[in-house]
Amino acid sequence: MGVIRCKGTDLLMWRRELIRQGGCPVDLDWLLSMAADCSWSDLQKLRICPDVEIELSSSLQQLTDLWVQHRDQHIPLQHLVGMCPWRDLELEVSSAALIPRQETELLIDFALQCLPEDARVGEGVWADLGTGSGALAAALARVFPRWQGHAVDSSDSALALAKRNLIALAGESGWQLHLGSWWEPLKPWWGQLDLVLSNPPYIPTAVMDELAPVVKDHEPHLALCGGEDGLDCCRQIIRDASRALAPGGWILLEHHHDQSAMVLKLLSDAGLERPEARDDLQGIPRFALAQRSCEPVVYDRPAEG
Ligand SMILES: C[S@@+](CC[C@H](N)C(=O)[O-])C[C@H]1O[C@@H](n2cnc3c(N)ncnc32)[C@H](O)[C@@H]1O
Repeated sequence: MGVIRCKGTDLLMWRRELIRQGGCPVDLDWLLSMAADCSWSDLQKLRICPDVEIELSSSLQQLTDLWVQHRDQHIPLQHLVGMCPWRDLELEVSSAALIPRQETELLIDFALQCLPEDARVGEGVWADLGTGSGALAAALARVFPRWQGHAVDSSDSALALAKRNLIALAGESGWQLHLGSWWEPLKPWWGQLDLVLSNPPYIPTAVMDELAPVVKDHEPHLALCGGEDGLDCCRQIIRDASRALAPGGWILLEHHHDQSAMVLKLLSDAGLERPEARDDLQGIPRFALAQRSCEPVVYDRPAEG
């Protein structure tokens, strides 16, 4: 796509007109930034000096066409543009996997808070259970360049997307993808996983119908629905965590806004230590973390003799 020169006044008028037609300013600014390379600060400069010209990578007509598709067919803007900013990354996104959400970015920060300061320069093993687009996996691979990483998903189309994102953002080595259910494909590494992150599907079945069409009709059901109380996947993940984690290893989970107490109880019932809730940016407990005991676990063996 070539460069399209556009008058600042025309761009501001375009934005005003779409807002008048019901467009959300945040969505329009996102579209300008992701589809036309016009950043928020470019827009601020135009507000001060509207007579200058700006270079766009898409015409205003092309942006209008995208916005109309979003408005009329409820197609997520991220799918129309094929990209989504997340932490310091630009991820490829598609209907193959969940669009990575802003709150999930926090899992990486919480992970860094759990680990010793020198963890980033040391070695270890991380896993991302239910990797989807590979957002968490790509961030982990960049933050822990000397660790070995494993990203698991039961959707092969999600894994194909994760592979492209990991190669583009984290290079071709230091990570492996596994098709399968949660810990199952990681059995050879059970007992060695130092850090496991998961943003599993957690929407209760009854809430699925209430989701906006932009989510319900365009993001994979497999990525969203967590069964009757939303906790099916959390239960499956937590059940094997104390065997799969390394001694002293950490598990961090994202969950629905009303599941904190239940997830913390599941973690402590599973024998994990120091279960703790963490808040999202709105102050709602949306994350839980816990650690496997540093003592090696002795499993029951059949009595001899
Ligand atoms: C909420 S999405 C999270 C995707 C990504 N980690 C993120 O935060 O954007 C949950 C992911 O779990 C995957 N998933 C669902 N059931 C699974 C299972 N039994 N084993 C592995 N992955 C599963 C879905 O395919 C989906 O990619």
